[in-house]
Amino acid sequence: MRLDKFLAQSSVGRRKEVRIYIKEGMVKVNGEVITEPSIEINENIDVIEYLGKTIRYVEKVYYMFNKPAGCITAKRDVVNKTVFDYFEDVNVDGLFHVGRLDKDTEGLLLFTNDGEFEHKLMCPQKHVEKTYFFWALGSLEEEDIRALEQGVYIGKGKILTKPAKIKVDKYGAYEEFKHEIPIDNLHNIDSKHYNQPIVSGYLTISEGRKHQVKRMLKAVGCYVVSLKRVSIGELMLDESLNKGQYRSLTEAEIKRLVG
Ligand code: URA
Repeated sequence: MRLDKFLAQSSVGRRKEVRIYIKEGMVKVNGEVITEPSIEINENIDVIEYLGKTIRYVEKVYYMFNKPAGCITAKRDVVNKTVFDYFEDVNVDGLFHVGRLDKDTEGLLLFTNDGEFEHKLMCPQKHVEKTYFFWALGSLEEEDIRALEQGVYIGKGKILTKPAKIKVDKYGAYEEFKHEIPIDNLHNIDSKHYNQPIVSGYLTISEGRKHQVKRMLKAVGCYVVSLKRVSIGELMLDESLNKGQYRSLTEAEIKRLVG
């Protein structure tokens, strides 16, 4: 492996930064200062030091998790179950979630210990698309769809959202569809809503503002009662994973996500 790649993967810094560290003589390989970022090292044998500290190679891991509703996206919490509580067979030291989902949102959540991977997916300039399947009380008329596509004002600062994609799936009375809506998320519905219109569909956004999907739909008069993330970029949630289950990403999936 190249020396600069090794250092970047070991979280010493980004590729650009570690090349500077190497050129400035801050890195030693087997006790000798090396100033060429592209030299090949053997991460299992060679001793690499940065500013006098030995850098241990940590293998990168990538997981896809099917988040259930009811747990929070955090490392620990005194009251609630967290997403990490589901990772029983994995050493979670150094593992972090890529982005967040609300407590009542389910679906695709990624985990890794690779800062570069997270940066490529989360950096706002990359505009990585995320698609959510929703059920919402209310209706979506042509003008609402156009508004969502073009951008709506949300949040305290009333900032316009970036253009989104929307595809309506089903539309009718709540009574008609209530059996299709995941039961975990129904805590906000009671019988007075039975004759209300309800709509389901897919909303694709390329930002990650707080409660963004719920707030976008609220801006056009719809109240989200169930939300599930189904894809990030080209990566779809593996529907063979039960809620609360996870699996490693394949090499091909990692490549599809970050190139
Ligand atoms: N948008 C939301 O409103 N909630 C989520 O959990 C994710 C996106």
